Amino acid sequence: MPTQPAVIPMRSEAGAPLSGTAGIPGDKSISHRALILGALTVGETRISGLLEGEDVIDTARAMRAFGAEVNHLGGGEWTVHGVGTGGFAEPDRVIDCGNSGTGVRLIMGAMATTPITATFTGDASLNSRPMGRITDPLALFGCQAVGRSGGRLPMTLIGARDPLPVRYELPMPSAQVKSAVLLAGLNAPGETVVVEPVATRDHTERMLEAFGADLTIEETGGGRILTLKGRPELRPQAITVPRDPSSAAFPVCAALIVPGSDILVPGIGLNPTRAGLYETLREMGAELTYENMREEGGEPVADLRARYSPDMTGIEVPPARAASMIDEYPVLSVVAANARGRTMMRGVAELRVKECDRIDAMATGLRDCGVMVEEGADWFAVEGRGPGGVRGGGLCKSHLDHRIAMSFLVLGLAAQEPVRVDDGSPIATSFPQFEALMTGLGANMRREDVQ
Ligand code: S3P
Repeated sequence: MPTQPAVIPMRSEAGAPLSGTAGIPGDKSISHRALILGALTVGETRISGLLEGEDVIDTARAMRAFGAEVNHLGGGEWTVHGVGTGGFAEPDRVIDCGNSGTGVRLIMGAMATTPITATFTGDASLNSRPMGRITDPLALFGCQAVGRSGGRLPMTLIGARDPLPVRYELPMPSAQVKSAVLLAGLNAPGETVVVEPVATRDHTERMLEAFGADLTIEETGGGRILTLKGRPELRPQAITVPRDPSSAAFPVCAALIVPGSDILVPGIGLNPTRAGLYETLREMGAELTYENMREEGGEPVADLRARYSPDMTGIEVPPARAASMIDEYPVLSVVAANARGRTMMRGVAELRVKECDRIDAMATGLRDCGVMVEEGADWFAVEGRGPGGVRGGGLCKSHLDHRIAMSFLVLGLAAQEPVRVDDGSPIATSFPQFEALMTGLGANMRREDVQ
């Protein structure tokens, strides 16, 4: 039985300005991929700066269950001794991916073209999320899946004995689906082609190239065409994981709305397929600068400096930017509530199938805190109340979603009344240091006693 972590009620309220330096943990997307590609490669892959959050730890455990040797050397340093492409062993237990959609979907792809059977499960959030978007393309390789109604976990996959290469056009902008198809393509003969009408995060492509896979990327009017030659001899790598821009978003956004704040957030990955939030904040008038721009581990990186920004105004966020900031809309809506005027966010239907329905979760909590929000199937709009104008006072539900919990805790730091969050325990999936880091910057945030 998967164990559910204890509920952790939390609250935040206005207080001192935020100041100092925020050491953000490693990128979650890149951490999952480093473990999985390391497990598919013979020899020792070394990873530094791995995110040691629950989601990634679940992926490390899963890689062990598929036969890889995964060692934690301490302090973000890990090694993986992989089994090679097509070398996954059949796990002797159910693979529990906890809260992680990325973990389960990428691992399903990685095993789909190996003739083994594996059963996957997760927590209540993950077990309610759609997996058909993964099992549909994996079926084209010859992989069978049996799950619950609506294509939900728990689910058993029977990997293809004689996999066929596929050509697949993504029906939705999803890096998880793209990555699952590419990972499955590794053990199919011939060329697997993925057509991506809208560019999504490209960490899998970058890492496949670094491991020596033969991948060509063509930019066309109809999007990106990725062609992967199957059955490559992957070479083990030394990977340095950049710090996660999606986690950095929380202290950065908090500094923008808490009067008098000035913080430095060093070494943040600014891959253009991930950096849409920062572009948006700058368009809104945020005092946010990139310093010391450089490249680390094949990814562009900069130190972010964020200062209190009382002159921010609402904007229309271009829908074409949605994929590059899809995880940041919850915290953007908190900044929007503290800006002047309306912020319109369109083209965000994918938010409804994340760890929870993020449009509904943010709209409900923001309204409880005195902010007007309108929503439709694929959009939502926040009516800004201006600096210091958010009433607060709500008890906001996190719905087993780390980013919803952190967003409401940021909201409380600039609100007139404290904001309470029913359960902060999901924060440990992606950002276990969040509370300590925020209070270290001076944030007025704490756990409450369980009633
Ligand atoms: C991720 C892709 C995105 C994102 C998730 C991480 C990844 O999901 O929301 O947090 O690492 O590939 P989708 O692929 O569903 O858009």
